[in-house]
Amino acid sequence: MTTTTTDRPAPSRTLWQRLARSLTQHDSFGAYFEPLIQLALPMWSTSGYRTKVLEVRTELPDVYSLVLKPGRGWGGFRAGQFVQIVAEQNGVLCSRHFSISSSPDHYARTGLIELTIRVQDKGRITPWLRQQFANGGWLRISAAQGDFVLPQGNGPVLLLAGGSGITPFRSMLNQLRAQNDNRDVQLLYFARDNQHFLFRDEFNRLQLDNPQLNITLLDNEQHGLISAELLQQYCPDFARRQILICGPAPMIALSRNILTDMQVPQQNIGFEYFGAAPIDQPRSSSDAALVAFRQSGINVDIAAGESARSLLEVAENAGLKPVSGCRVGVCHQCICQKQSGVVYNTRTGQYSDTGAGEIQLCISVAASDLVLDL
Ligand code: FES
Repeated sequence: MTTTTTDRPAPSRTLWQRLARSLTQHDSFGAYFEPLIQLALPMWSTSGYRTKVLEVRTELPDVYSLVLKPGRGWGGFRAGQFVQIVAEQNGVLCSRHFSISSSPDHYARTGLIELTIRVQDKGRITPWLRQQFANGGWLRISAAQGDFVLPQGNGPVLLLAGGSGITPFRSMLNQLRAQNDNRDVQLLYFARDNQHFLFRDEFNRLQLDNPQLNITLLDNEQHGLISAELLQQYCPDFARRQILICGPAPMIALSRNILTDMQVPQQNIGFEYFGAAPIDQPRSSSDAALVAFRQSGINVDIAAGESARSLLEVAENAGLKPVSGCRVGVCHQCICQKQSGVVYNTRTGQYSDTGAGEIQLCISVAASDLVLDL
């Protein structure tokens, strides 16, 4: 999962939310009591929608799609968004975020959505989900989240997909077809070899329906990784396009570096990670920092030369339990008040000022001594 360059403004809170947060660190009292109630009723939740798993469909030997029927009240989604799924594994609730690979139009017609999931090597959840729900079952999903969506208007677009990062683009392309939106779209889809391209037949059909849609499959064995030369060869007018990138962190980093070197403005590039977002080391290796968690009275020393950790990890390693969700900067559940000090935002590459302000713990690292309201 799945993270755009444009930071969404922090949601404003109601008076009730402020009261709940001041007393519980949560935006609602329900969220505070939820873990206690779940000790007795594991599937109980203040949020989330009971959802039926209708099918587990194999796409590739190591990739499957969950076909889900969300329960009443689920609010739908925009192509490119993701959901958090929550399921009970051996009495323990586990959650993961997955992009919705089917289109909003498909949901409107059938009431169904699809999540396409690659089985992670040594993963605990992704192989288990496939096995557990092979004969159907129930789980919970969140409301759709995320702002990795197609730009407004009908300007030309370049989509860069790496591996399973194709899933939000499948949703977007099918939605464009459903809306008879024949905008100029170039998709460069990178996979590790020729056997690992998802939805190949479907993409062929989509191309036949829209002469303005051009999909190029580039396997790493034959073409190597994304490069300036491949961009020039397969999408020579990339500089005039809005660009969306989705894939593993190294592929995104490489793509962004190439595009930056080729003078593409940052505001034209959106991206979303599959897997955890990387943390660039923002501090000088000679800098140490003291993170003071004001409410809990815990101070954490970050030694000079220590590799960067998100403030969410720092807090959790110190025994705190801040609210979190996606852990990649999208859901905004980990917002925390910074009283003072400078943080580095690993999504935007920006440093904060030294004063008070809200930060997202999961994508912030200490760039100086800090005082946090936690
Ligand atoms: S933004 Fe989702 S946990 Fe930080």
